[in-house]
Amino acid sequence: MIIVIIGAQWGDEGKGKVVDLLADRFDIVARYQGGHNAGHSVYVGDKAFVLRLLPSGIIHEDTTCVLGNGMVIDPKAFFEEVDQMQSQGISITPERLIVTSRAHLIMPYHRALDHTSEERLGNEKIGTTLRGIGPAYEDKVGRRGIRVSDALSPEVLKLRIERNLEEANRIIVTYGQPPLYADQIFEETSALVERLKPFVCETSHFFSEAKKQNKKILLEGAQATLLDVDHGTYPYVTSSNPTAGGASVGAGIPPHHITGVLGIVRTYATRVGEGPFPTEMLDEEETMANLIRKRGNEYGSVTKRPRRCGWFDAVATRYAAELNGFNSVALTKLDVLDALDEIKVCIGYEINGERVDTFPAVSQDLRLIKPIYETLEGWKSETLGVTDIEKLPKKAREYVEFLSNSIGVEIGLISTGPERDQTIIVQNSVMEGWFDK
Ligand code: IMP
Repeated sequence: MIIVIIGAQWGDEGKGKVVDLLADRFDIVARYQGGHNAGHSVYVGDKAFVLRLLPSGIIHEDTTCVLGNGMVIDPKAFFEEVDQMQSQGISITPERLIVTSRAHLIMPYHRALDHTSEERLGNEKIGTTLRGIGPAYEDKVGRRGIRVSDALSPEVLKLRIERNLEEANRIIVTYGQPPLYADQIFEETSALVERLKPFVCETSHFFSEAKKQNKKILLEGAQATLLDVDHGTYPYVTSSNPTAGGASVGAGIPPHHITGVLGIVRTYATRVGEGPFPTEMLDEEETMANLIRKRGNEYGSVTKRPRRCGWFDAVATRYAAELNGFNSVALTKLDVLDALDEIKVCIGYEINGERVDTFPAVSQDLRLIKPIYETLEGWKSETLGVTDIEKLPKKAREYVEFLSNSIGVEIGLISTGPERDQTIIVQNSVMEGWFDK
C-alpha cells in the first residue's frame, strides 16, 4: 500500500499531525519534494517536535524514513535537525534514515541568491522562506546542480562549486553583498557530505523491493497544492511539485503503484508570504483574523511569521481535490472555530461581475476575485479533544458535512486538537486498511 498525503490549501494545514498519526501504521515514510522550507509541528505528550527536512515519521522508532530525489537538501540544516532530534531522545541511524543519492544539495550561494532574488523583485517579491530553495531548483533544471552523488566525489564537488560560484558571485556582488569563497564552501560541504555518506542510498530500487515485500509506504508532501509550481498561484508558489503527480516523480515510484491520496484540509485557510488569497480576512475582519491566529497558533513553526488568515475557500479546495484525486480528506483544526458565532464559506467567485466556479490560472485574476460567501451558524461549544463524531455539536457536524459536499470528497478523519488522540476517525470505506497496523 502506498499513500500520498498532500496539503490542499497554501500549507500549514496540519499535515505533521496526520502523518505522525499514520506513521506507526506504515513501514516507510518518505518526502518527495521541497527542503527545509517546510515546518511541521508534532506534539507528543509534553514534547513538541518541529520537523523541517525530516519526514514526520522519524518520531516513530520502527519507521524507516526517506528523503527522496525530488528534494533539495541543505546538509547543514540536515545535521542541525538530526542533532536536535537526537537531543530530544529520537534515535537516528542510517538504518532508519535514508537520503537518496539523486537529491540536490542547497549550497550557501543558493541562500544568498534567494535574498538577492527577493530584493530584485521589490514589491513583487514572493515572500520566500529565504532558505535557498528556489535557486537550488533553478540549478537543478538548469542542469548545473550538485546532487548528493556528485558531492560524494571531491573532484566533481570542487569543480561544480567553482563553476557555479563564479556566476553566483556576479549577482551577489551586484546586490552589494560580500562574495563567497569556493575553498571555504568546498571545505564546509566536504565535511558535511562525509558525515552524510552513511545515510546515502539509491532509493528507486529500495522502493521497488519494499513494494514487493508488501511494505506500507507513506509519501509525505510538504508545502501544498496551491504552492505547486505548475498548479498553484504562480508565481507566488514554491519551486517544486507538492501535488500527487510530484509524489511519483519525486520519490521514484511508478504512478500506478500509488494506492491512494489523502488530502489535508483545514477548516479555514491561511497563507504565509505574498500572493493572492481570495478569502483573506482583511481590515474589517482583523479581529476575526486575530482570534483565529491566536486560537489556531497560526505562526510559522520555523520562521515564526504570523500567517495571513482567511475563510474556507471551497472553490480552491475543490480544485485541489480534483487535481490530486483525493480519495479521502483529513479535516483539521475544527476546535479552532469553537468560539465563532458565524462561519463563512466561500462557495463561488465573482470576477468582473461574472460568476466563476473554477480556480483561475492567472494571479492577476485571482486578485480581482470577490468571494461569494454562504454563512453558517457557529456551534459555540468546545470540540477540543472530541473523539467520536456523534459527540460533536450538531452545528459542527453540519459544518463538516457542508465542507465535504462543497469539495466533493468524503471526510475520513477530523482533528480536534494538536495531540495524537484528539482525533475522530470517521468510518470511511476508502480509507479502509490505511489505519491498520
Ligand atoms: P520558498 O519555498 O522558500 O521558495 O517560498 C515560496 C513560497 O512558499 C512563499 O510564499 C513561502 O511562504 C511558501 N512556503 C514555503 N514553504 C512553506 C510551508 O511549509 N508552509 C507554508 N508556506 C510555505
